[in-house]
Amino acid sequence: MTLTFTYLSHSGFLISDGKHTIAVDPFLTGNPLAKHKPSDINVSAILLSHGHDDHVGDTVEIAKANDATVYAPYELAQQLSSEGVTTDGGNPGGQLVGDFGSVAFTHAFHSSSHSKYGYVGACCGLMISMAGVTIYHCGDTGIFSDMKLLAEIYKPQVALIPIGDRFTMGPALASRAAEMIKPRVAIPIHYNTFPVIQQDPKDFKPNGVTVQIMQPGETWNYT
Ligand code: NI
Ligand code: MN
Repeated sequence: MTLTFTYLSHSGFLISDGKHTIAVDPFLTGNPLAKHKPSDINVSAILLSHGHDDHVGDTVEIAKANDATVYAPYELAQQLSSEGVTTDGGNPGGQLVGDFGSVAFTHAFHSSSHSKYGYVGACCGLMISMAGVTIYHCGDTGIFSDMKLLAEIYKPQVALIPIGDRFTMGPALASRAAEMIKPRVAIPIHYNTFPVIQQDPKDFKPNGVTVQIMQPGETWNYT
């Protein structure tokens, strides 16, 4: 089965199995690297890791235009519901099922607030299952040793790992994280969007893991 990944830049992706397309953390407006506009996005579901504006991004506009369901940490889902968006909320340890497949929330060491909604519950990683492939979107997080346990349980083939430093792991810690997760392919995310998270993705070099560096707007097929 082929899954198509389109990198929206920052932590944002479109992921498609040819039948269903989902967006993860679609931050486009105000993102200097984004090649897509919210009106370019056609999806049936949007998955959010946490409430920060650089992750919620254009979710409300995209969800309304597509009649898409938003899967998000519980308190964030409640706030988005009050905007008239269809949502499904969960928390770490729980799994939600949608037409695209499923998403399990994992913990992430970070915070979760939004400029309009205030504090919005847990910040999470997302263990996404689609067409028989499991993708671990780490969200924004520091390193933690349970990444090894999560990898044992969910066996992700692809990991999307933040390397920007300051708000998340930098390249060295992200490399250690990838070595614990042991995916077939690791893609560095959450860097170079703003000067404070400037990094050279070539410094992300986990032992024994293939690294796929993606340019904003680029598409890559996982087979
Ligand atoms: Ni964040
Ligand atoms: Mn962030």
